Amino acid sequence: MTNMTKARVLRGLIGVVLMLLVAGLAATAGQSRAGKASTQAAAPVQYVGAGGCSAPACHGSVRPMTQTRIWQNEYSTWVTQDKHSRAYAMLSGPVATRMAKILGLPAANTAPKCLACHAIDAPASDRARTFDIADGVSCESCHGPASAWLGPHTTVGWTHEQSVKLGMYDTRDIVQRTERCLECHLGTKNKYVDHEMLAAGHPDLYFELDSFEATMPRHWKQPLEQDAWRDVRDWGTGQAVQLSAEMKYLQDLTQREQWPEYTQLDCFACHHDLVKTENSWRQQRGYAGRKPGSPPWNPSRYIVFREMTRVVDASLATKLDASLANVSAEMSRVAPDRAKVAASANETAAALDDLAQRIATMPYDRAVTLKLMRGISGDADAISMAGERSAEQAAMALNSLFLAYSRNVKMPNEADVRSAIAGLYQQLQNPSAYDGFQFAAQMQKVNALLH
Ligand code: HEC
Ligand code: HEC
Ligand code: HEC
Ligand code: HEC
Repeated sequence: MTNMTKARVLRGLIGVVLMLLVAGLAATAGQSRAGKASTQAAAPVQYVGAGGCSAPACHGSVRPMTQTRIWQNEYSTWVTQDKHSRAYAMLSGPVATRMAKILGLPAANTAPKCLACHAIDAPASDRARTFDIADGVSCESCHGPASAWLGPHTTVGWTHEQSVKLGMYDTRDIVQRTERCLECHLGTKNKYVDHEMLAAGHPDLYFELDSFEATMPRHWKQPLEQDAWRDVRDWGTGQAVQLSAEMKYLQDLTQREQWPEYTQLDCFACHHDLVKTENSWRQQRGYAGRKPGSPPWNPSRYIVFREMTRVVDASLATKLDASLANVSAEMSRVAPDRAKVAASANETAAALDDLAQRIATMPYDRAVTLKLMRGISGDADAISMAGERSAEQAAMALNSLFLAYSRNVKMPNEADVRSAIAGLYQQLQNPSAYDGFQFAAQMQKVNALLH
C-alpha cells in the first residue's frame, strides 16, 4: 500500500464515524419522505463523499464476502486498485502540470475544465460536510449523490428500485450505465477533451464497454444475472449507446468556436509517418469520397458496430449506412459545413433512438456471436482502410466476442484464434506506423479460422 492509499483508507475510517451520524439522520428523512413522496418534492440531494461508503460492515470490508449479495469490499477495491480513485491526484502529476502550463491554467487540480471528469465538481450547496474533492472519480460519480438513500439503503428489505427513486443512478441498466461512462470517456457539451488538450498532453479518449468493464477492477458480483452471453450484449449495447452519444456530441461541437474539431477526424490521417511513395498504403488505397489530402472523419464508432445493426435489423442498417455516409462526406471536407453536419448527426441520432434498448434486451446465443465475429472479420477491407481507430475497435470487438464465445463453446482451434487476435493488437502498438493492408490481411486470417 502506498502512503497515499494508507492515508485515504484512514481518512475513510474517520469519515465513517461522521457518516453514521449523517446516515442516521438521512435514514429518518428518507423514510418520512418515502411516505410523503406523492405530496412533497424531494429535499435537495447532496454528495457525501466516498468516506460515507467505507465502513467495514458496508463497502469497506478488506476481504470479499461470499455469503452476501454484494462483495462489501467495493471501497477497498476502488481505493487500492481502481484508477478512478487516483483521477484527482493525477491532476497534480507532471503531465497535468505541464498541460496546465501549456493551456494557461493556474493549476489543473483547481480548473473546472479538468475537475469536470477527474472529480465531482459539484457546487458548494450540493456538497455534504464529509465531501472531499480529492476522492476523484468516486462512488457517487457513477452511482449518483447519496445523501437521500445512504441511510435507507442499509435497511433490511430495501430494494434497488427504492434507492433509484431517491436519486441513485441506475448503473444496473446497461444503457444508462454506458451513458454514464461516456460522459467522461467520450465527452459532452460541458465536459470535453478537445484537440487543444490533446496537443497539451491529454491521452486520447476512446471506449468500448465490455473491454473497459473488464479492465476496471470489478467491484460487483458476476454474474449479476445468469446470462452466459452477457458480454456479447454488453459489447453490442455499448456500441449502440456510444454511436448515439457521439452523434449528440458532434451536434454540440458544431456550436463551438473551434471548428472543425480535430478530435472528430482520423488522428493518423495527420499524425502518421511519411514513407517512400512506393511504400505508402494510403496512396495505394486512394481517397474515395473526398479530396486527396483532406483529413477524413473518424468512423470507428460506426464501422464495426455496423455488423451488429445488420444482424438486428437489415433495413435499419441500410438507413444508418446512408445517414452516416452523409456525416462522413461532410466531415471529410477541409471546411465542413456546421449546419449540414448537425442535421446529418441529428438524423442519425434519431434513427438510433431505440436501437440500444433493442440490443440490450434481445436474446444472445452461440449463433449470433459467431455471426458477429465472422461478419466483422469478413469486413476486413472496409474496416482496415478506415484507419487505425477503426482497426482498434475491431480488435477490441473480436477479442470481447471471442472471449465470450470460447467461454461457452469448445473451439477446436481456440489457441490459433487467440494468437491471430493477438496479432491484430500487435499491429496497433505504434499507431503512427499503422498499415491498412497489413491489418486487413491479419483480419482475414482471423476470419479464415472462424470457418
Ligand atoms: C471529458 C472528460 C475529461 C476531461 C474534461 C479531462 N479529462 Fe483527463 N482523462 C479523462 C479520461 C477518461 C482519462 C483516462 C483515459 C484512458 O486511459 O482511456 C484521462 C486521463 C488523464 C491523464 C492521464 C492519467 C494517467 O493515468 O496517466 C491526465 C494527466 C489527465 N487526464 C489530465 C487532465 C487535465 C490536466 C485536464 C484538464 C485540462 C483533464 N484531464 C480533463 C477524462 C477527462
Ligand atoms: C466508474 C464508475 C463506478 C464507480 C467509481 C463506482 N462504481 Fe459501483 N458499480 C459500477 C457499476 C458499472 C456497477 C455494476 C452495475 C450495478 O450493479 O449497478 C457497480 C456495482 C456496484 C455495487 C453492486 C450493486 C449490486 O446491486 O449488485 C455496489 C455495492 C457498488 N457498486 C458500490 C460502489 C462503491 C461503494 C463505490 C465507491 C467506493 C463504487 N461503487 C464506485 C460503477 C461504479
Ligand atoms: C466522472 C468521470 C468518469 C466516469 C463517469 C467514468 N470514468 Fe472511467 N475514468 C475517468 C478518468 C478521469 C480516468 C483516468 C484515471 C487516471 O488514470 O488517473 C478513468 C479511467 C478508466 C479506466 C482505466 C483506463 C486505463 O487506461 O487503464 C477504465 C477501465 C475506466 N475508466 C472504465 C470506466 C467505466 C467502465 C465506466 C462506467 C461504468 C467509467 N469508467 C466511468 C473518468 C470517468
Ligand atoms: C487535421 C489534422 C489533425 C488531426 C486530424 C489531428 N491532429 Fe493532432 N495535431 C495536428 C497539428 C497540426 C498539431 C501541432 C503539431 C505541432 O505543433 O508541431 C497536432 C498536435 C498534436 C499533439 C501534440 C504533438 C505531439 O507530437 O505530441 C498530439 C498528442 C495530437 N495532436 C494528438 C492527436 C490525436 C490523438 C488526434 C485524433 C483524436 C489528432 N491529434 C488529430 C493536426 C491534427
